Amino acid sequence: MSAIETTGHTAALMYLLDARRSTRRLIPATFPPDFAADLHAALRRVPSAFNAQPWRVVALRERNEAFWDLIVETLGSRLDGDRRDRYFQRAENMRYGGMTLLIFEDAARATPQDGLSASEARDQAAQSIGMAQFALWLTITAHGLTTSLQHWHALIEDVALAFAGLPAAAFRLIAFMPIGASGEQPAPRWETDGGFTREHVGALAD
Ligand SMILES: Cc1cc2nc3c(=O)[nH]c(=O)nc-3n(C[C@H](O)[C@H](O)[C@H](O)COP(=O)(O)O)c2cc1C
Repeated sequence: MSAIETTGHTAALMYLLDARRSTRRLIPATFPPDFAADLHAALRRVPSAFNAQPWRVVALRERNEAFWDLIVETLGSRLDGDRRDRYFQRAENMRYGGMTLLIFEDAARATPQDGLSASEARDQAAQSIGMAQFALWLTITAHGLTTSLQHWHALIEDVALAFAGLPAAAFRLIAFMPIGASGEQPAPRWETDGGFTREHVGALAD
């Protein structure tokens, strides 16, 4: 790879890292024909502990509207008062993008290997699934689309499993990612320290 190519790749990656934001108000998107294939290609390249790929990602497109109808119905029957109103509003803001990814953990692929304890294996599976979610997020961003990571599993896990046709004994809902075009300006990024400590090593340039 030439120096010019490398510079271009670094700039593209930095652009994507910056452009990726959480968007919680979506409007209908036009999905490019290669979009689902690119999500799949991204997942195939994600590193995971023991290369076990302990996730199952279900992409809802044709049934996206039916899924959200069911979610709203479930929220209505399980919540009340202010909390119900808040979740109704969240659902209303996120349901019309056109696609939703359901991210499950696949228990059979997350079992301890190589002497790991159950909690170590669970920790490594969670890290692996985090990698998968980030790869999906960057792929979505690269297509000019947007999403967020939502954790409503306590409320809707059983419903999402049944909708995806996955057995509750073998899969857990980790999160879902509603995808669409952005219907809001992202809030300014919080200034953080990035959690990074740099040692000065030898002759490395600043
Ligand atoms: C592991 C994880 C869990 C998150 N859970 C939620 C969530 O349940 N709902 C939500 O709206 N955002 C969630 N977020 C998004 C974060 O709040 C967001 O990434 C962070 O505030 C930085 O904002 P940005 O994504 O716009 O850069 C989650 C992010 C991560 C990495």
